[in-house]
Amino acid sequence: MVEKRTSQLAELIEPYAGRPQELIQVLREIQEELGYLPKEAQEEVAQTLGVPLSRVYGVITFYHFFRTSPVGQHTIRLCLGTACYVRGAAQVLQTLQEELGINPGETTVDYKFSLERVACFGCCALSPVMVVDNTVHSRVTPAKAREILSTYQGS
Ligand code: FES
Repeated sequence: MVEKRTSQLAELIEPYAGRPQELIQVLREIQEELGYLPKEAQEEVAQTLGVPLSRVYGVITFYHFFRTSPVGQHTIRLCLGTACYVRGAAQVLQTLQEELGINPGETTVDYKFSLERVACFGCCALSPVMVVDNTVHSRVTPAKAREILSTYQGS
């Protein structure tokens, strides 16, 4: 399994050897293939493209669509766009981080939940908005977020 992934990674990264300007593109391709960007992929990309590992990490943390862990059973997407933010999305995020023990872009150790931040769902009148899998939750408060999480206990 590990060997298969290593050769798969090499195949994806090799065409970009010595092309640091293609950093985002190669990271996107790896994530498309594996679903996330494991540590060994980040290291391999840095080495092959000839960029510092810190730069690879900087790009991954800057762009919220990059993931550093596999996707969980349920994906929680919280909007942190302006309308949601001014109505308390930051407090909801804080609650989710405390309850789940993860940051955006991460997955819980039991692979039950993944947490992602979104710029805007396009339904700002319902802010703050949180989407779990395909279910939209509107006017979410920290208490409501806890309640929503509890409905997934045991599922
Ligand atoms: S800002 Fe959150 S839905 Fe638009």
